[in-house]
Amino acid sequence: MITLIVGTNRPGSNTSKVAKHVEEIYAESKVPLKVLDLAKLPAEIFSPNSYGEKPKAFESFSEAILQAEGLHVLTPEYNGGMPGVLKYFIDMLKFPESFEKRPVCFVGVAAGVWGALRPVEQLQQIFGYRNAYIYPERVFLPQVGDLLDANGRLTDPELIGRLKKQATGFVDFVERVKGVKVRGK
Ligand SMILES: Cc1cc2nc3c(=O)[nH]c(=O)nc-3n(C[C@H](O)[C@H](O)[C@H](O)COP(=O)(O)O)c2cc1C
Repeated sequence: MITLIVGTNRPGSNTSKVAKHVEEIYAESKVPLKVLDLAKLPAEIFSPNSYGEKPKAFESFSEAILQAEGLHVLTPEYNGGMPGVLKYFIDMLKFPESFEKRPVCFVGVAAGVWGALRPVEQLQQIFGYRNAYIYPERVFLPQVGDLLDANGRLTDPELIGRLKKQATGFVDFVERVKGVKVRGK
């Protein structure tokens, strides 16, 4: 199973619209996918007590990371970095087993011209620190407002092709480094 992390809790985010395309791509490839939308995090996780004891309602989130053969992270750019909620989510996960030797790949989504290069590189640093296996091919979607139509769909086939190529290459990478079959499971 691949776990897809929608890295913001902003209602109606463009990141969640891009995530729909990525979901469809995995479905076409018959790869089981679990979507973790940070907009659905339980409110109790934001209590300071959660550093000590995790609320029961968070278990499905932390388990979706631990059970994943690979993690596909979509991050928007907020203030030149990743959203605070994405870093907080990472900080709430079990250490060290959540990312240790776990394959991960990244997509950046931004209003600006850099396409969330900064948050993706920040995440590469964090996941590198946590001994994840980083898939080198990243996808950036700059000026995302111009890339989506009124229904929130990407219109450029070249960009959709880039997302497909990344997901397919990532599954190959996962199967190689983990020595498991992910497709058709
Ligand atoms: C709090 C906040 C800060 C933002 N800062 C940046 C930024 O530094 N650079 C940028 O290109 N876009 C910035 N944006 C715009 C987002 O990149 C834009 O909303 C894009 O659609 C991706 O975010 P979304 O998934 O929340 O829609 C910011 C948006 C928010 C809500």
